[in-house]
Amino acid sequence: MPNQDFSNAKKLPPYIFGQINLLKQQARLHGEDIIDFGMGNPDQATPNPIVEKLIETVKNPATHRYSQSVGLPKLRKAIKDWYSRKYNVDLNEELEVVTCMGSKEGIAHLSLATLSPGDNVLVQSPTYPIHSYGVVIAGANLHSITLKDDTDKFLVDIEDAIKRSSLKPKMIIINFPSNPTTQYVSIEFFQKIVEIGKKYDIWIIHDLAYADIVYDGYKAPSILEVDGAKDIAVEFFTLSKSYNMPGWRVGFCCGNKELVQALIKIKSYLDYGTFTPIQVAAIKALNDCDNEVSEICSMYERRRDELCNGLNRIGWSVKKPLATMFVWAKIPEKYSKLGSLEFSKLLIEHANVAVSPGAGFGADGDDYVRFSLIENEHRTRQAIRGIKNFLSMEI
Ligand SMILES: Cc1ncc(COP(=O)(O)O)c(C=O)c1O
Repeated sequence: MPNQDFSNAKKLPPYIFGQINLLKQQARLHGEDIIDFGMGNPDQATPNPIVEKLIETVKNPATHRYSQSVGLPKLRKAIKDWYSRKYNVDLNEELEVVTCMGSKEGIAHLSLATLSPGDNVLVQSPTYPIHSYGVVIAGANLHSITLKDDTDKFLVDIEDAIKRSSLKPKMIIINFPSNPTTQYVSIEFFQKIVEIGKKYDIWIIHDLAYADIVYDGYKAPSILEVDGAKDIAVEFFTLSKSYNMPGWRVGFCCGNKELVQALIKIKSYLDYGTFTPIQVAAIKALNDCDNEVSEICSMYERRRDELCNGLNRIGWSVKKPLATMFVWAKIPEKYSKLGSLEFSKLLIEHANVAVSPGAGFGADGDDYVRFSLIENEHRTRQAIRGIKNFLSMEI
């Protein structure tokens, strides 16, 4: 038998969502109608103008060749314009912009390009898994910093962790509005964290995946709006959520040119870029689809209201998020000792409802489950009825 010491794969823990997926499949095989709030996988169609642009472009055989890993020049220009229009941020599209095959790919490869074994990295927790596991795959030391509601305390904890480290951290990875916790911040938060990054010479990676999924008048800031942020920070964005394009695999990373160039370099060895027609359609999305983005956001808002009002009505007290496509729900008192995986299993078994166990986003998340707003309002009402029955059972 050849050597099976696959050390990089071994560093990754078993996928906790796999157990939930298995239960879901088994229940469906038995004819159960499982209402699925599990994955943050947008369920609606990509807006028509974007699809039409793809169809038009794919008919040109010249687009079937290898594309450009760094991104088509016109796409990088559209990204520059998007930042200028939305955030009044000026970018050099030659040096400070790179497109990615989805932001998950970009975040993982930025870690691989910039981190070495022995480097320390501070990562917000709970968080979207690639923020932590990109660091682990790169062989660096992951240092999770818990964030529970209080962003001022989080900043203090970050600074404490820096001061206490025998080896100064190289990088901080953050995500606001956050998946899974839905935590949001103001520009002052970014000013303070950039100040910390500059004081201690530490890179900051910010993931702005939910830039457009915001409610009740809240506007999610970009870290690049902070004066001088580009000296130490980059920001990732994805078209997956704002434009219902999760399967298309297109996102980008902008800001500090040393970090952007490191990502460009490693990607030039690893990929030939997102398929050209998809990049052309992404230009259409960024330039011309603001109205469609507003409609997508309104749809999530209606679902948020249906789910949160419903859960609160049946006695499961949850907070309405101001951003993201998630509801981060504390496990009801009666079940709190079970932990999030066991509680999620009960929800599938007794309420026909699938959610993501909070522990899948780090041990700090184990008191919570995450609902993704990927079921329509009618199905959400059906789920509430199932959960109501389950909560009234003696289990
Ligand atoms: C915070 C966050 N970042 C990145 C991603 C990945 O997005 P993409 O489809 O661009 O890889 C997700 C997807 O759920 C996410 O929630």
